[in-house]
Amino acid sequence: MGQVLATNRRTTPGPDPSPQVNPPCIFYAMNTPLVSRRGFLQSVGAFGIGLSCGWRGSPLLRADDTVVQPAGKRLIVRTADPFNAEGVVDKLLSNWITPLESFYVRNHGPTPHLVTAEHQLSIEGLVDRPLKLSIAELLQKFPKYQTTATLTCAGNRRNEFQGPKIGGVQWGTGAVGNAQWSGVTLAAVLRHVGLQNGARHVWFEGADIIKDKAESYPFGGSIPLEKVLDVDAALPQALLATHMNDQPLTAEHGAPLRTIVPGYIGARSVKWLNRIVVSDRPSPNHYLAHAYKLIADEKLATIEAAEPIYEIAINSIAAAPAADAAKDTGDITLRGWALPGGKTGSTIKRVEISTDDGQSWKAAQIGTPNQAACWAFWSVPIARGSQSVWVRATDSTGLTQPREMVWNAKGYQYNAWQQLKLSQGN
Ligand code: MTE
Repeated sequence: MGQVLATNRRTTPGPDPSPQVNPPCIFYAMNTPLVSRRGFLQSVGAFGIGLSCGWRGSPLLRADDTVVQPAGKRLIVRTADPFNAEGVVDKLLSNWITPLESFYVRNHGPTPHLVTAEHQLSIEGLVDRPLKLSIAELLQKFPKYQTTATLTCAGNRRNEFQGPKIGGVQWGTGAVGNAQWSGVTLAAVLRHVGLQNGARHVWFEGADIIKDKAESYPFGGSIPLEKVLDVDAALPQALLATHMNDQPLTAEHGAPLRTIVPGYIGARSVKWLNRIVVSDRPSPNHYLAHAYKLIADEKLATIEAAEPIYEIAINSIAAAPAADAAKDTGDITLRGWALPGGKTGSTIKRVEISTDDGQSWKAAQIGTPNQAACWAFWSVPIARGSQSVWVRATDSTGLTQPREMVWNAKGYQYNAWQQLKLSQGN
């Protein structure tokens, strides 16, 4: 997208504390398995078979009946249908901007394969001039904009919850990625159609239809209008994106149009967007009204009383050190990512590690870029022979990760200190 305005565009990330790609770790283990051997082999296998058969152009690669990878993806497949797959932490740490092949995919239903030239976006509700726009019209009418933002699923780290088994996709730590998103700002579009009195929420609807028992409905949700129009924010708070990392969106990431809401959980960044409704109330769509809430049980009354989740929870993850680190003398470098909480403008302030069960903490070096709504990479030397390392992050608003995470029925926003258990002999 040559003409995209480069408002916060950054094409050359600053020094990354440790930008190299490490081989999968064999000497260190996470407190929960990151990649099952079978899962890892399946994802590599799917990629390899696809390439050797020359299926690069086909939308899906099939290795066997259970594994389906979109072309060019190298992910751990959590469910094949709908397709849900996550990145591997070592791979994710090799680039501050996550390449497409490592970017997680979270789908609730089948992936629509839409034709860009035929796609229409409808804008309706509490607006003066309801409008239908093609993608070409959208990009002609409004200034183009690019922003960088980290997208993460609210269910990331679900498989670390202790307590009763939680349903849903059993995410490890890789349902997260950082990308450059290009398109137009939602604020510009809403200003153009004119907001009526009483407008408070902006609903989004995607073209995917989710079948749930006897019902079917599109994926959707909403965000508060004040987030969209936040005049104090240096960066736009909601984008209608057509491109990811300077390439047109791929089908699995929402082509030809999706929302990107920096600082909010991934569920608010609706893919295959075909309808926007401005309303005086939050969306009644299942994924806003019922799912994506922090609830102690799944009784209807509990669900209805709970607020929807919007902002990302502060989090941080370390990669297990490379296998050959064990052969070195002296310290081992631990590295990872840290993601600030979703408050506008929040950045990572501190990442700390503890090798004595949280009694004392040592600060990690935070790399650059370290900017709002994006993860920051960090690194810290640790002594060989350490048995266990805890990691926690704090952001510029003072939010910090808790030692323990309270169980919730849907398994969202797990962000307790991460523990790496290191093997003997290192
Ligand atoms: N939009 C639609 N239409 N359908 C979906 O299933 N999943 C949401 C969101 N937008 C979803 C969607 C969730 S839960 C997440 S975390 C992000 O998309 C994931 O975006 P990605 O698949 O591009 O990584």
